[in-house]
Amino acid sequence: MGDHNKVEITKIDYGKNRPKAKNPIKIMDLSLRDGHQSLFATRGRTEDMIPVAEMMDEVGFWAVETWGGATFDTMHRFLNEDPWERIRTLKRYFKKTPMSMLLRAQNLVGYRNYADDVAKEFVDRAAANGIDVFRTFDALNDFRNFETVVSVIKKCGKHFQGCMCFSITEPRMGGDVYNLKYYVNKAKDLERMGADSVCIKDMAGMIAPYDAYSIVKELKAAVSVPVHLHSHFTSGMADMAHLKAIEAGVDIVDTCLSPMAYRTSHPAVEPFVMTLMGTNRDTGFDIKLLADINKIFEKDIIPKYRHLLDDTKLSIIDINVLLHQTPGGMLSNLVNQLKGMNALDRIEEVYEELPKVRKELGQVPLVTPTSQIVGVQTVNNVLFDDEKERYKMITGQVKDLCYGLYGRTPVPIDPEVKVKSLKGYPRGEDPITCKPADVLEPELEKAKKDVEGLAKDIDDVLIYALYPVTGKRFLKWKYGKEQPPAEVRPKTMEHVKAEQELIKKALEGKLIEKPQKEVPPKGECLRKFNVFVDDEYFEVGVEEQGGVPVARYIQQPLAAAHPVYAPQPLAAVHETSKAPVEVSVPKAAADFSLQRPAVQKAPKPVVKSSESSSVSGAEGIPLKAPMPGMIIKYEKVAGDTVNKGETIVILEAMKMENALPAPASGTIKSVNFKTGDSVANGNVLCIIE
Ligand code: CO
Repeated sequence: MGDHNKVEITKIDYGKNRPKAKNPIKIMDLSLRDGHQSLFATRGRTEDMIPVAEMMDEVGFWAVETWGGATFDTMHRFLNEDPWERIRTLKRYFKKTPMSMLLRAQNLVGYRNYADDVAKEFVDRAAANGIDVFRTFDALNDFRNFETVVSVIKKCGKHFQGCMCFSITEPRMGGDVYNLKYYVNKAKDLERMGADSVCIKDMAGMIAPYDAYSIVKELKAAVSVPVHLHSHFTSGMADMAHLKAIEAGVDIVDTCLSPMAYRTSHPAVEPFVMTLMGTNRDTGFDIKLLADINKIFEKDIIPKYRHLLDDTKLSIIDINVLLHQTPGGMLSNLVNQLKGMNALDRIEEVYEELPKVRKELGQVPLVTPTSQIVGVQTVNNVLFDDEKERYKMITGQVKDLCYGLYGRTPVPIDPEVKVKSLKGYPRGEDPITCKPADVLEPELEKAKKDVEGLAKDIDDVLIYALYPVTGKRFLKWKYGKEQPPAEVRPKTMEHVKAEQELIKKALEGKLIEKPQKEVPPKGECLRKFNVFVDDEYFEVGVEEQGGVPVARYIQQPLAAAHPVYAPQPLAAVHETSKAPVEVSVPKAAADFSLQRPAVQKAPKPVVKSSESSSVSGAEGIPLKAPMPGMIIKYEKVAGDTVNKGETIVILEAMKMENALPAPASGTIKSVNFKTGDSVANGNVLCIIE
């Protein structure tokens, strides 16, 4: 049978001063980065990390992960927090424990490869601000993308942890791409590059416990540096995988404190402390101290984030991950993307298309950003392709991937897809074979010029260099040049308590409904209508805002089972407004004035940004947003003549750039949005005449 159980129980002792184990398992805590990134959409705020930081510093973690991944993005975009400030602040509390960050190699903490000058400056500044361990990965496992950042990590005297993204193409490890040999070779490559440790990065929780055992066993024999396992709980296998890895001799595993653990996050640390207590792999941690930290999390921190937790189902396991071999985060992105386009019913088609697209795009590992690249393209294919043509709307990122801008894919990209993607590609139609950053022009000097007068130091410049649109907006907030919107403000415990009070009252039936809006005084033009809903009857007053006595056909969008019949128009129907106007009637209301935006009166094809697809211009052909997203830039301005198919606007959706082509040839009559604007599915982006 062989010795499968290397963990030996020597002595049970619960005290914190119990004798040190012979070979204690080292633990990195991820609560302050991957934990809240996995459970709470990366919305954790620095002010909520401070109350636990000092105590966490006492636990004895090998390192604490506090930065990188999506934190940089969400902090400046959604939290109005300076990402650099977080490292400096936390460093004051973590005096003994090294701080680790997740670095997406040449992608840094963004979603594309940045030029070498930006990459070098970024790593240098991260080290200077307080990062000790650089957990580095590349979405394609193309380690040429490590070269630039690793040279700086080493120069700064910091720990370079080389990751290999764990991926599978079938239910268990094996097959001709992601097999044992693949991982062993990758680990050897990393060691040759100077990795201070190697990490199996199982970002989707797909490593099966016995596969974890074999990989660790092989890696321990193949390399001399410490071996680290990072596995998400998502599928429910991670605790078992960790334990089997520990039995195989893994040096370091990742956990979270229990309030930040499980679901799509990581195994909790506390069960491991107990499981290994008194064995030769004893963590040596004081379980009481962990309990004290838990208390603070539960009482003062988690309540502010609870609303972000996806608790729509009771199970904390995502069985779809086991079924589809696809990361949970990617699946929820797909669902959100489909929801945004009112196409959730097509999810099964998406599941079917996904392995096809992945294979055609070079069987890439599914991790940020490749998971989004494959995911968004899959949805685009399902929604926009027809029998005659596949890949009708190719995202900018798929084009970049085909060109080689992300690096070398594990297997070659499908030649047909490659040719189609690169047709008219601005950098050229012949893909590159060198390391991607070699073809990127330096970016830093231009970035400095762009934010001259706004950025105060190099850290500011880097925020802009990484995220030009949202980064610049953040710098304006930071220096008081623009008022940050209310939604970036933190939720306080006072908010939480007030909400809990309301919920309590509601449950007790003591909540009295407040009117949604102040009722405006009734004017002389008020018309009254009788409205019948099944057996119920309401009297409804209708009055044109501004007092023009025009009423129109009203269609009721209440549930189809309860159609509301409004009387036919008493006055003329506006000639440009044939579309029914949607008005929602609260069922309980007895007498109120219907409130809705006035229908566009301008006969010219000017469509306001707030207008939805139901009202399109009377003249000209509208270019509508095929999905919700943010305007990156307009390639054309009003007055330009365009040919059908020419790119008019670049729309970022799910972090992918989509070049939206002109639906017809003609002249651009009006452009309705600007860079940075958010648009809904169906918004009219411009009119072509
Ligand atoms: Co992770």
